[in-house]
Amino acid sequence: MTLETVGWGVVGPGGIAARFAEAMGVVDGGEIVAVASRSLERAHAFGDRFGIPGRYGDGGDLLADPAVDAVYVATPHGRHEADTLAAVEAGRHVLCEKAFALNAAQARRMAEAARARGVFLMEALWSRFLPPYRRLGALLEEGRIGEPLLVEADFGFRVPVAPEHRLFAPALGGGALLDLGIYPVQLCALVLGRPERVAADGVVGETGVDEVVTGLLHHRRGLGVIKAATRVALPCTARISGSEGWIDLPAFMHCPTSLTVTAAGGTTEHIDTAWEGDGLRFEIEEVHRCLAAGRVESEVMPLDESIALMEVLDAMRAQLGVAYPGE
Ligand SMILES: NC(=O)c1ccc[n+]([C@@H]2O[C@H](COP(=O)([O-])OP(=O)(O)OC[C@H]3O[C@@H](n4cnc5c(N)ncnc54)[C@H](OP(=O)(O)O)[C@@H]3O)[C@@H](O)[C@H]2O)c1
Repeated sequence: MTLETVGWGVVGPGGIAARFAEAMGVVDGGEIVAVASRSLERAHAFGDRFGIPGRYGDGGDLLADPAVDAVYVATPHGRHEADTLAAVEAGRHVLCEKAFALNAAQARRMAEAARARGVFLMEALWSRFLPPYRRLGALLEEGRIGEPLLVEADFGFRVPVAPEHRLFAPALGGGALLDLGIYPVQLCALVLGRPERVAADGVVGETGVDEVVTGLLHHRRGLGVIKAATRVALPCTARISGSEGWIDLPAFMHCPTSLTVTAAGGTTEHIDTAWEGDGLRFEIEEVHRCLAAGRVESEVMPLDESIALMEVLDAMRAQLGVAYPGE
């Protein structure tokens, strides 16, 4: 079945869900028809703010709404598997926020369920769909820096420790690695493929999750050096160095509005990669394209890539000594 206008249901009306709703306003082919919160009051508040007709105080009720074709899972990491599986079992297509799950085992179950049910599922790794990342892919393909050999990337802020907040609560999948480290890790994977081994070290805070992480990713043909932090302000930049030059991604490296290409000889080209509207629009457009074409996976962000990224995060987290409840 292909869809002309996708009816979206939003689960978890928090910070990113609000951006998703803003982005939907500039995208063709879809509209948000329902929102579910753990509180009907908050569902109404979100519904009023964005003009959404269906408001539910329970995710199950949202899934019973026949106007909902696709679900945007915008809850904390610890809820991604349950919220995704519920939507998939109800026959809905799903766009699930990053990090895709708490671990690779959950990611595999999510992928298997979607494939078995024949519905679309994709991790909302928005960077991959942004103009700068599409341009980066083209530059690498053209061989502008020769063979890419080293990726250095970091992403971090200093935020106050708040034990209940999703960044710090183990039950919600807190920690710098899953929340922010996913971006440098996915850049390494995009440029160099899957790493063969990883080495990680970091600082685990009082709530039991990682607050500062460093990682060395050993790929078949290159190295990735990454940092992520919730307790240290980092530059949030990236550099991809190759045999014939390098490409700089300025802050923020997960959504840069320009790229700089420097040839080994020293000439520099500045490339403007700015876009209009909220950057989440590009991942939404990808979902719409896939659904219109009857595809159940994105070629840009396939499920096997999400699983592979979770495997890297698992391996790093094991070395940091961070485990989530139930693991
Ligand atoms: N793409 C990006 O740029 C980007 C940016 C930020 C975050 N994210 C991702 O988006 C997801 C959500 O992040 P966020 O910043 O939007 O978080 P948030 O503001 O805390 O919102 C998450 C919402 O999920 C709901 N929720 C359901 N179960 C929950 C639970 N057990 N504890 C807390 N909240 C629960 C809450 O809504 P109710 O209480 O109303 O149900 C909450 O408002 C994460 O996966 C995060 O990594 C992506």
